Amino acid sequence: QLSLHSVFCLFFYLSICVSLCVFILQTLTGTFVLSVFTAVLGSLEFGYNIGVINAPQKVKTKNRSLEPIPTGTLTSLWSLSVAIFSIGGMLSSFCVGFISEWLGRRKAMLINNMFAFIGGSLMGLSKLCRSFEMLILGRFIIGIYCGLSSGLTPMYVGEIAPTSLRGALGTLHQLAIVTGILIAQVLGLESLLGVEDLWPVLLGIAIVPAVFQMALLPFCPESPRFLYIVRCQEHQAKRGLRRLTGRQEVGSMLAEMKEEKRKMDMERKVSILELFRSPLYRQPIIISILLQLSQQLSGVNAIFYYSTSIFMKAGVQSPVYATIGAGVVNCAFTVVSLFLIERMGRRTLHMLGLGGMCICAIVMTTALALLDSVPWMSYISMLSIFGFVAFFEIGPGPIPWFYVAELFSQGPRPAAMAVAGFSNWTANFIIGMCFQYVADLCGPYVFLIFAALLLFFLIFTFFRVPETRGKTFDQIAANFDQHSTTGMMDMDMDMDLDKPSTEL
Ligand code: GLC
Repeated sequence: QLSLHSVFCLFFYLSICVSLCVFILQTLTGTFVLSVFTAVLGSLEFGYNIGVINAPQKVKTKNRSLEPIPTGTLTSLWSLSVAIFSIGGMLSSFCVGFISEWLGRRKAMLINNMFAFIGGSLMGLSKLCRSFEMLILGRFIIGIYCGLSSGLTPMYVGEIAPTSLRGALGTLHQLAIVTGILIAQVLGLESLLGVEDLWPVLLGIAIVPAVFQMALLPFCPESPRFLYIVRCQEHQAKRGLRRLTGRQEVGSMLAEMKEEKRKMDMERKVSILELFRSPLYRQPIIISILLQLSQQLSGVNAIFYYSTSIFMKAGVQSPVYATIGAGVVNCAFTVVSLFLIERMGRRTLHMLGLGGMCICAIVMTTALALLDSVPWMSYISMLSIFGFVAFFEIGPGPIPWFYVAELFSQGPRPAAMAVAGFSNWTANFIIGMCFQYVADLCGPYVFLIFAALLLFFLIFTFFRVPETRGKTFDQIAANFDQHSTTGMMDMDMDMDLDKPSTEL
């Protein structure tokens, strides 16, 4: 009955999401809506694969000779299949720059689906073939897909979005990720697909979003910024702009791109090394890396990977449903962020999120430490975990993903996305591998480590991270340019907010 409820709630949530998106995108054209929707199917796939691996961990499996695999070996194999996903992501996210320039954003997304197809099929057939090697290889390949899509989707959406909606549309990437996580959590319930016979189906479903994305991508235009600035194809870029905006007159948008191209043509090609060497890019790349680290080292995946055992330790009676509760809070607050992002700005929301998470981590630690003497502390710890997740989605969840694409102009953007993606996946891997060992060492005080890190990232954001709301890519780059030549380090770009920005 509970799983029926969950499925009902999931449908209810999905229909709210779709209506919200339609509402937000109402002023935009059908082609634009289709393009954003198709791109974020990649993010949905990414989220699904983060969430899906929890359920099959509980189910026993057998090897080729039909002997049950010993528990110790099984645990190691599952840890390997969790970790290998992030390794696939680390490797491929580093190639995002090169692949997106070589094939273009749209073709790169199209071809990337091959990995989802192969990975999903290997995982889905692994039980039939009684091969855990296939499962591990499948996780690695799907990790490659997710690493590429975590760079390609925000890049494509950021490039086609009008300046005034870039933040809200960028948040859709995270909304699709959290929706993917929730779908996986619900489908992974024991009363649905989380049982011995059905887990291959659960893992194999990963090919569904890929099929849809492959079918829809041919109807979406390539990013006009990429066509014009990188490929010098003015005619095709204009055609793409007309399709996306529904307007015949696209002169002003082209003029903004022309200016960006003029500046880019004056620079040398930006390699990853160049990002760190050039004083022009050093500040923005450091900010990008630290923002990605603030997302992962906040400890959110400690909750998502190990939620059930955390809730059990916190004395919660039905940890599985509390996990789904965390998934629901996760989705709800991403929607809240979607509406606030263009009003309150990236910087304020990111700081609010980090500060709130830090307080929740301290409350959670106190509650866990007092659990033995004060029984009702289990409620406080559960509420503080929900608060932790909610504050994450207000800022540190969605913002770092699209902020990097905003901070760089067309020339250095692909290399910067690669570095940022790599930092994100590496930190993700470290948390996934180390959290349980550190938690065993520190007991209830483990979240104090995250509280200290959160405080550090909050201070860093306050002093170093500029506001980018309502600015064109050119204005943002110009601001860093100005600071690097004057040597000033005050990055508060709100000073420039009254400058007009070019909007689609
Ligand atoms: C972000 C993170 C991802 C995390 C998710 C949780 O997308 O990149 O690692 O699992 O948020 O909502």
